[in-house]
Amino acid sequence: MASTFLGLDLGTSGLRGLLVDATGDVIGSAEAHYDVARPHSGWSEQDPNDWITACQEVAADLRQRFPAEWGNLAGVGVSGHMHGAVLIDKAGEVIRPCILWNDTRSHAEAAELDASEDARRLSGNIVFPGFTAPKLQWIAKHEPENFWRTAKVLLPAAFLNFWLTGEAVTDMSDAAGTAWLDVARRDWSEKLLNLGGLSKDHMPRVVEGSAEAELLCAKRMQEWRLEDPVIVAGGAGDNAATACGAGLLSEGSGFVSLGTSGVLLAAKENFAPRPETAVHTFCHAVPERWYQMGVILAATDCLNWFSGITGATPAELTSELGTELQGSSGTTFLPYLSGERTPHNDSHIRGGFVGLGVDTERRDMTQAILEGVCFALRDCLEALRETGTEFEQLLAFGGGTASPYWCQLLATILNVPLALPSGSEFGAALGAARLAICATTKVDPSDVMTPPAIRAVVNPDVRLRDDYEAAYGAYRRAYPAHKSMQT
Ligand code: XUL
Repeated sequence: MASTFLGLDLGTSGLRGLLVDATGDVIGSAEAHYDVARPHSGWSEQDPNDWITACQEVAADLRQRFPAEWGNLAGVGVSGHMHGAVLIDKAGEVIRPCILWNDTRSHAEAAELDASEDARRLSGNIVFPGFTAPKLQWIAKHEPENFWRTAKVLLPAAFLNFWLTGEAVTDMSDAAGTAWLDVARRDWSEKLLNLGGLSKDHMPRVVEGSAEAELLCAKRMQEWRLEDPVIVAGGAGDNAATACGAGLLSEGSGFVSLGTSGVLLAAKENFAPRPETAVHTFCHAVPERWYQMGVILAATDCLNWFSGITGATPAELTSELGTELQGSSGTTFLPYLSGERTPHNDSHIRGGFVGLGVDTERRDMTQAILEGVCFALRDCLEALRETGTEFEQLLAFGGGTASPYWCQLLATILNVPLALPSGSEFGAALGAARLAICATTKVDPSDVMTPPAIRAVVNPDVRLRDDYEAAYGAYRRAYPAHKSMQT
């Protein structure tokens, strides 16, 4: 019987496993969830052991439902939420909870590292507070006993690789988000590591995401009732994995994601960083490719926040707007509920409404929230344009695309047609499974990483373009004014 492959998507709220056949067609999927702890304002942590529990549940579920296919497992690939720091001691034990990508406690350490002459030059990026290097500086300062006990620093996906294989191995798309990687050379930078009192010995081995990392260890083979050797791929950070799942490897192709956070990503065939734009430039999960992206920290999170306050579900709130755009709301919403990355690199800024009146209703505020998120993504598009990127079309996904109104608004504000994929399998779990196929069968990544079928293309509403351009101008002017009031 033909081989099967497992993609594991270690997300912020849960772990998803996707079992596929040798062509990448889906056999079945399973999911398990876990929580984020927020012990202090701005902190965000997870216990890596919860990921293992979730992974065991997912594996057991898939094995039970698809016993024959599970028995033919030949390769595993892991995608993980990026930038998190899992500290491991000499015995391989986890030292403290993982500090996640959306934790902003290390903003002072990030600014310090970013000011060093080598940081942007070698890593190609601003050292953002969410990145891994400043987290380790924070630990050195506030928990020195944990810092000195640390034998290896693993990203979330690399931690899962470690548990799967017994070896510390990461892929370079994820490693690029640490601020320790020389992103042009695709290898750890001793210079960047030394800035934080670390060395290459603290780092996992780094491989291409689509290459073999190691074999599944004997313990997992036994627990998972597998007999033939299983290859574990390098894997990927979630955005690179999503790009692999959506077939985005070539220049000019990209996606916009309306998830908890928002991402606008462009695949690149060369390394051309522009850190001053606050665009991220990272290695792709396949050789000789990179990608660039703008990241906003709150997208659907803004609507969820408003939903919590009003007691109406996000779907109820957006349905009050109908499906047709009527022009801008006249109210400006700044979506900086958790600070912002692109283009402001400002972890202190917070959100706001401008232009409320006695006649403002709930639906006007919902509309302003959706507009504010789209304007923030437009900021990302403008930042990417400064790096020379132009899109003829963008794939669009994430929870927010369930609202036809939001899709139409985003297409109009970006002035780029949005292609909506059909089905639900084009994301990070599929990307991870595809990396497993590449690592195991040595097939060329571009043969496996094909684009999804498209169910609809949403074109910009040309009638309203000038109206939204004017509203975007007001949005742009609001940040400096708002900032001057907050500091
Ligand atoms: C990317 C980033 C997020 C996380 C969480 O830089 O921080 O997209 O990977 O998914």
